[in-house]
Amino acid sequence: MSPKVTFDLHATDGKARTGVISTPRGDIRTPAFMPVGTAATVKAMMPESVRSTGADILLGNTYHLMLRPTAERIDRLGGLHKFMNWERPILTDSGGFQVMSLAALRKLTEKGVTFKSHVDGSKHEITPERSMEIQKLLGSDIVMCFDECPALPATDEKVAESMRMSMRWAARSRDAFGDRPGHALFGIQQGGVTQELRAESAEKLREIEFDGYAVGGLAVGEGQDAMFGVLDYAPDMLPVNKPRYLMGVGKPDDIVGAVARGIDMMDCVLPSRSGRTGQAYTRHGVVNIKNARHIDDPRPLDENCSCPACRNYSRAYLSHVFRSNEMISGMLLTWHNLQYFQDIMAGMREAIAAGTFTSWQADFHAGREQGDV
Ligand code: GUN
Ligand code: ZN
Repeated sequence: MSPKVTFDLHATDGKARTGVISTPRGDIRTPAFMPVGTAATVKAMMPESVRSTGADILLGNTYHLMLRPTAERIDRLGGLHKFMNWERPILTDSGGFQVMSLAALRKLTEKGVTFKSHVDGSKHEITPERSMEIQKLLGSDIVMCFDECPALPATDEKVAESMRMSMRWAARSRDAFGDRPGHALFGIQQGGVTQELRAESAEKLREIEFDGYAVGGLAVGEGQDAMFGVLDYAPDMLPVNKPRYLMGVGKPDDIVGAVARGIDMMDCVLPSRSGRTGQAYTRHGVVNIKNARHIDDPRPLDENCSCPACRNYSRAYLSHVFRSNEMISGMLLTWHNLQYFQDIMAGMREAIAAGTFTSWQADFHAGREQGDV
């Protein structure tokens, strides 16, 4: 077992990259998609099933876990990996972004953020130092800096001020994290959709030095065109020899477009969340299983998919269990969606390594139709 977290780039094709992040808990093949296990579970999935789809790493959330069951309790019980029965790498988000979207009575100061829990209304504070402490108690392999992301719409001035505070918090996060062999700390670039602010943010982060660099503050309602606009320059501002992580993205075509622009890691609730609401992502587009035309359909969701939902069940069955509110509905559709997202990642890794990513992308887009399939 290596005591260090390292990143080896194996091949590039245009701006797209493939490689491996090595950690003491296992390798992460990039480009990597991280299923979201917010509350110490990828909802509706057993960890071994998540692994069977090809996931090398999960994402967990500081905000949710500090409130319930608390980081101290997880630490006493042997850490997050043991607690949730996932021994491979875990990346944890730092809390600020979730406070801003979920908590009540948030108060932001230079020191950090105070808020009331969405669970029971109790009062809490997260500072960069406390976020590092919580992520250490959880035993996270990849720790994220504590940052702030302004809600849209925001003026350039507001985005600049917020980014500069996040950069001061990044320096405090770095100091508080200290030296922890086998664990990585990632900085988070902010700056909205303004190139100068993105450049200033990247420069600050590079000065501080991190083990990896995230592009934050995207997929917050700006739309794909604006997001791709930022991704046309933002990854190039970050060190070439370190992993680049696009936070909270996205739909299959967002993921492919991000990888084409030099992104190595992503996470999103989409495959798991939409699985529970009856939406399946397939090679041909989105299937809404609630649509009446599936009721008598003996075909599988996707004839080319290896997941249990597609191997063992018809669209008619999936339609029935969805309409009957049976738990297996969310389980099967989540499994399928996670399999599909991991199949996309595996396909991209292979194509980048073979130097055929451009034609892979063309095939990917050609296979997709508009609307329900
Ligand atoms: N998840 C999605 N976007 C962000 C971001 O900008 N910062 C953090 N910490 N998490 C995110
Ligand atoms: Zn499937």
